[in-house]
This record gives sequence, C-alpha cells and structure tokens, in this order.
Amino acid sequence: LDNGLALTPPMGWLSWQRFRCLTDCQKFPDECISEQLFKRIADRIAKDGYLEAGYQYIIIDDCWSNMSRSSDNRLQADSNRFPNGIKDLADYVHNLGLKLGIYGDYGTETCGGYPGSINYLELDAQTFSEWGVDYLKLDGCYAALHGMEEGYAKMSQFLNATGRPIMFSCSFPAYKGLEANYSMAVQHCNLWRNYGDIDDQWDDVKDIAGWFSDNQDFLRKFAGPGHWNDPDMLIIGNFGLSLEQSKSQMTIWSILAAPLIMSVDLDTIRPEFRNILLNKHAIRINQDPLGIQGELVSNTSSIQVWKKPLQSTKESRQRIALGIVSFRCDGYYYPQDILLAEFFNEDCNTFSIIDVFGDNNLAAERLYEKSENLTVRVPPTGAVLLLISAV
Ligand code: GLA
Repeated sequence: LDNGLALTPPMGWLSWQRFRCLTDCQKFPDECISEQLFKRIADRIAKDGYLEAGYQYIIIDDCWSNMSRSSDNRLQADSNRFPNGIKDLADYVHNLGLKLGIYGDYGTETCGGYPGSINYLELDAQTFSEWGVDYLKLDGCYAALHGMEEGYAKMSQFLNATGRPIMFSCSFPAYKGLEANYSMAVQHCNLWRNYGDIDDQWDDVKDIAGWFSDNQDFLRKFAGPGHWNDPDMLIIGNFGLSLEQSKSQMTIWSILAAPLIMSVDLDTIRPEFRNILLNKHAIRINQDPLGIQGELVSNTSSIQVWKKPLQSTKESRQRIALGIVSFRCDGYYYPQDILLAEFFNEDCNTFSIIDVFGDNNLAAERLYEKSENLTVRVPPTGAVLLLISAV
C-alpha cells in the first residue's frame, strides 16, 4: 500500500500470542487485556531499548471492546478494563514515542466473538482515526470469502480518507490461501497474514518456515517496501522455544523480511532472550532498505541455508545474509561448510563476515578469501546467521 508507511518491515509488539483473550482482571490483574497491560508494556518498550532498536508499534489484539456497540453504533472499549478509553491510551503511548495499533474484524464478529465491522467499515475507520490509532489489524473471521478482497480494499480507502496515516494489516490471504488476490494485497495493505496462527512451540516455527519456503517463488514477488508477507508473531522469550530455537526464529524472520512483532511479557523476559530480540545485526538484515524477501537455497541433511540479498554500501558492492538453520536433533554442533564462491560474483574475492549471534568465533577483524574453507557449527534446532560483505 502506497501510503508512505512500512517502507521496511513493521516492528512492534502485539498482545495476542502471549495474553490471548484473558479478560478476568480480578484473577489476572497483570495479564488481562486492559489499559494497564498496554501501559506497562509501552513503558518497557520505551525504556528497555526496544524502541531504540526499531520496535515502535504496540498493538492491541482481540478482546478489547465492549460486547456491543454504543447507541450511535460506535465500537467502544470495555469500560472496566479500559476506564480511560483508547484515546487516552493512544496519548500515553504517543508521549513515549510509540505508535498504537488496534484489532478489528472484517466479518460479523471478531474471532473472539466481539463486534465485527462488516456493516460499519467507514464509521470504524473514523473512530480509530479519532482515537489516534496508527495501525489496524483487520482479521477475517465470520466473513464470506467471496468478495473479501474488495471489502478490504474499501476499508483501505476509508482509512486513507480519514487523513491519518494508519498502517493496514490485512488477513484475507490467510483465509483464502494462495487463491487470494495477492496483487490486491500489495495495492491495499501494508502487510498481511498469509498462513495459520503461530502458537508457542518450535513445531509452529518449523511449519511456518516450511510453508514459506515451499511457496517462496510465489510469495516473494509480492513483498517489498510498503507491502509485506507476515508469517505471524515472534514467540521469542515465552515458554515454548529454547534459546537456540529463538535464534532460529529470529534468523528466518530476518531473512524473510518479515514484520518483527513480539508477543512476550517484557517485564519478565529473561535477558538472553531480550538480547536476541534486540540483536542489531539481525534487525539490520531484516530492515534492509531493498526489502527483498530472502529464500531457502539448500536443504540437505536437515540443515537449511537461507539467503537474503542486501543493499550494497560504499565499502561493499555485494552483501548478503546467510542463515544456516538446523532441523536436526542429534545432540551436537553439526559442521556445515559454506562455499563463498556459490553466493558471490566472480570478481568478489575478499569478504568480511559478521557472525550475528557471535557463537562461531568467526573473527570480525580479519578478512576471508573466497578459496577458504569456512565451516560453521550449528546446534540442534539452532541457527547461525552471517552477514557477509564482499570488500
Ligand atoms: C485469529 C488471528 C490471531 C488473533 C486471533 C484473535 O486467530 O489469526 O492472530 O488475532 O484471531 O481472536
């Protein structure tokens, strides 16, 4: 969508994966979907280095609203859980330098059973804009598949007509599958979910990565500045991924130029997971201005090699990121050879290499020759991410 937004993949935080539809604030005061939750997470994003690293959007997912619309048909926040309303919350996050996102649904009800927007698209666009919302995730539960693209296109125009820049996250490709009209997604959305929900487990990272690589020739065509495929949230720092698996998710999502949208309790996240989310080299790879969605280039012995071309610099004509991801489970560091000649033009002979997570003792201060035998060691279900520049 050509609205000046999402020129690099959006970065932020979304409540769904970690906090779901917890609405009982009596029993779960710190975790229920409430203004208190978003304020405390916004504080952490602003103060613990996430905003500085690029994570700017804090997004409210499902279950924020009242079960019914107001007498003038407006959506309204649940008044017990958001006593000061969404506008107040938007002011709060804006004062911290963040942007606020919210969730709606194109159909008759949201996936969690709250009011849908089907009959009120224009009014809801206006309401969100009046509240100071900067991002809308419009889900597609309880909606007819036929004509969905046209409906999302209308909403995109209604958002545009408010005059407020609002990033638009669509869901129709996830509901319609590869039959969806992807050109319309590019035209009307800044990002779109393509595939099923991520839950808190390695199997889902594996499944989503598999679906994206199986369909990469189709999907990659549609990604670029202003319009991105979205493999769903980062689950790093929660219960399901080990430290090494977290590096794998960060590696694949960075190579895919995926939106980096965390969903984790930033008050209790352990520092080693926080460091992965804040890894500046991984973020730089993800946020590369060319915006090319990378791809799987080889898959032998359950070791996958993923590649993403990066923008050249004054010092380097050709730069790439290589992600080496292990899907093995025999418990040792598997040695994987990297042949630089496979990835670079003939006239590139000398390289500098950044080992993004720093586990492989590849010396950043020395240069590597094309003829050199480079072997990285990858732990079971872990990853090595390299940023390689021809110099
Ligand atoms: C769907 C979406 C999720 C989340 C839930 C909320 O499942 O795919 O990301 O928004 O709805 O109910």
